[in-house]
Amino acid sequence: MKVLVTGGAGFIGSHVVDQMLSAGHEVSVVDNLRTGHRANVSPDVELHDVDIRDAVALRQVFEAQRPEVVSHQAAQASVRLSMEDPVGDADINVIGSLQVLEACRYSGVRKLIYAGTGGAAVGEPRYTPVDEDHPVNPLSPYGANKHAVEHYCSLYRANWGLQTTILRYSNIYGPRQDPHGEAGVIAIFVGQMLAGGDPGPTVNGTGEQERDYVYVSDVAEANVLALERGDGGMYHLGTGLGTSVNELFDRLAGMIGYRRPRQHGAALPGEVYKIALSAERAKRDLGWQARVPLEAGLRLTVESFR
Ligand SMILES: NC(=O)c1ccc[n+]([C@@H]2O[C@H](COP(=O)([O-])OP(=O)(O)OC[C@H]3O[C@@H](n4cnc5c(N)ncnc54)[C@H](O)[C@@H]3O)[C@@H](O)[C@H]2O)c1
Repeated sequence: MKVLVTGGAGFIGSHVVDQMLSAGHEVSVVDNLRTGHRANVSPDVELHDVDIRDAVALRQVFEAQRPEVVSHQAAQASVRLSMEDPVGDADINVIGSLQVLEACRYSGVRKLIYAGTGGAAVGEPRYTPVDEDHPVNPLSPYGANKHAVEHYCSLYRANWGLQTTILRYSNIYGPRQDPHGEAGVIAIFVGQMLAGGDPGPTVNGTGEQERDYVYVSDVAEANVLALERGDGGMYHLGTGLGTSVNELFDRLAGMIGYRRPRQHGAALPGEVYKIALSAERAKRDLGWQARVPLEAGLRLTVESFR
């Protein structure tokens, strides 16, 4: 199958590319290298350095590649930056995603797989683990725009017959996540603990906040499964279990041999307190479940950063 991955030079997108290649698909990438890196992309893959907001350039790539399926991972993925610059954030995540949908419409793409978010879109949950029927109440512009694009996906499906599958990720971690990035507490802690310099890792707020951490190869696999399954569906990809930031800090410090005590800073605005996602629907329709346990995933991440 011909698959085009937007954001394929980024953290999650590059793992999607790798697994699509392993499954025997022909893959191309659109990425403007805003946060992604050319080195993340296999040399066998054509990388188009194009901004998804550039309608003309994007359509040229789609016309040349004629992908059957598009896995749309490109985004501004930081909650904090979305709070600082909601307009710039929406420009990439809403207008850029619309341009991707338009390019799909005009070049006869069969299916779009969309990288949504569970935590940031749902907001503070009424119950956990959160399933797909839980009301949506985003606390940040990032959560709002990721959710807005879900509606666009549904209406492109209803009006123009584009098959769509929405994958709402929980907190994804693993090799190639940016340790200097805005998001990704595991990568940030591992990077700072291994570097050992000052200041050491800082826990935002009490550290009691909980997230559902899924290893990156597991969400990449969900994208491969969604090539053929889950049309019209929206799926939460989580383990159902929350882990606190304090527990992460302690586990990583143990693995790395980091001896300094935890330091705490101010809590971040726009962040959910505690969340975990139920993946029962993804198990039923996609045959997906998270397979890499947290302890093993943390060890793989530490090894890759070393
Ligand atoms: N990391 C997580 O825990 C998480 C959780 C939920 C959802 N997501 C979603 O998963 C997707 C991938 O996130 P990630 O963590 O790998 O982030 P990332 O920043 O590593 O990857 C995003 C990629 O998109 C590219 N990009 C950004 N703006 C672009 C533009 N205008 N045109 C073309 N390319 C552009 C970047 O260069 C980068 O390679 C995003 O859609 C994000 O919202 C991530």
